Amino acid sequence: MSEPYTKKQIVEMRKKHIGPSCKVFFAKDPIKIVCAKGQYMFDEKGERYLDCINNVAHVGHSHPEVTKAAMKQLELLNTNSRFLHDNLVRYAERLALCLPEKLSVCYFVNSGSEANDLALRLARQYTGHHDVITLDNAYHGHLTSLIDISPYKFLQLGKEGKKEYVHVAPSPDIYRGKYREDHPDPATAYAKEVDDIIKKAHKNNRKIAAFIAESMQSCGGQVIPPIGYFQKVSEFVHKAGGVFIADEVQVGFGRVGKHFWAFQLQGEGFVPDIVTMGKPIGNGHPMSCVVTTKEIAEAFGATGMEYFNTFGGNPVSCAIGLAVLDIIEKEDLRGNATRVGNYLVDLLNEQKQKHPLIGDVRGFGLFVGVDLVKDRTLRTPATAEAQHIIYKLKEKRILLSADGPYRNVLKFKPPMCFSMEDAKMVVKEIDDLLTALEEVTEIQSDADVDENNKKKRKEPTEQEESSSNKKGNVNRQRNGVDTESQKVSIKRHRT
Ligand SMILES: Cc1ncc(COP(=O)(O)O)c(C=O)c1O
Repeated sequence: MSEPYTKKQIVEMRKKHIGPSCKVFFAKDPIKIVCAKGQYMFDEKGERYLDCINNVAHVGHSHPEVTKAAMKQLELLNTNSRFLHDNLVRYAERLALCLPEKLSVCYFVNSGSEANDLALRLARQYTGHHDVITLDNAYHGHLTSLIDISPYKFLQLGKEGKKEYVHVAPSPDIYRGKYREDHPDPATAYAKEVDDIIKKAHKNNRKIAAFIAESMQSCGGQVIPPIGYFQKVSEFVHKAGGVFIADEVQVGFGRVGKHFWAFQLQGEGFVPDIVTMGKPIGNGHPMSCVVTTKEIAEAFGATGMEYFNTFGGNPVSCAIGLAVLDIIEKEDLRGNATRVGNYLVDLLNEQKQKHPLIGDVRGFGLFVGVDLVKDRTLRTPATAEAQHIIYKLKEKRILLSADGPYRNVLKFKPPMCFSMEDAKMVVKEIDDLLTALEEVTEIQSDADVDENNKKKRKEPTEQEESSSNKKGNVNRQRNGVDTESQKVSIKRHRT
């Protein structure tokens, strides 16, 4: 075995051989990870990091059952799906059993991007239309077709980044969006926006092939659409001859605890026409899937063009997929997501009572967001503070990220074996960091009250890392996105 590279050597070699747009976490002092287990990652010195962000290692990093399943199948055979093999159909059948009945036909691919690209092809073939409605701040993948429908990305190229066939609907964010928690019916109001887009498109002789949305927006800032929104959008889109694509790449496979799929949070009555899956499906192995209805699949097949994917649905991937499904069930990971997720939200809500920097806590299961604000009334995003916190947590060996259009939403989506102790530990650290940040602010205010409004909050040194995709402040009001089970009532403590 050759000597391992030092971190410095790896950075230099990356500069030489890896494209400069491929970034690392914590660019100023990146982490070298050499192994991982469960919810923990270990660097080259054996230091343990608590992983609060890796939803790919869904059943836990390096799960022995996943490794065993992969090894066993690799020793026997790995080939493409043009040969008959048990694993492909066994997995497709198992996956279909986790979904509403009408979603029964699978296409296996290798990444979330491939899944969404294929979903667009299916939609276009079935409907005979071309245009796509997407949500503001959405990210659906890195292929050309998906950058086009990902405002999170194409807005970085300026307004001209948006193609004519793409229509952007407001994100159904009831904390920061156009219609807030004080609106009598935000689901209808946001859905009506989609209907308006459809009407405008029709006036311009454009036809809608699909509406695509994550069942809960992840990169968009841990946004949970109001219940009823998807049903209403689906009606409008169907009336326009389009289909509904639910992107479950980040949020599927029981992350929300109560349900296997996040779209099911909208209620039993809602079933998308196409569901795309990725990340957690293979626990780190590159596999993904598109599931759709018989009718859509038949329309796609009717062209006569073969769909062939060299690696999609190979016996090793399917063996791994089966192992992941088994583990979710055997280890009651959905139950764990509910218990630990509720506990985490409770702890964070206690912090919200204590720290004015926390504007909103929202989430289901182990998908939780903490929206940091400089001002609770204006809901001014506390971007630099969020970046400061994730850097400081890294020093404490906790890996967390901040995302959303303003990069101010602390984003929890840990492996599903995340424990109560992990939740307690990370919240305690966040508490300490927020206390310190707020103390700095208060000292400033006391020192010079007259200058208070002119001065900016003392920004942490990491702020240059905190570039946001969007600029500007939005008028903010109070929020209350929390669910029944996740509400807490704790006395307010000031630090
Ligand atoms: C919601 C969503 N869809 C699709 C993708 C693309 O998946 P991949 O990176 O596996 O191509 C991502 C990746 O982050 C994602 O977050």
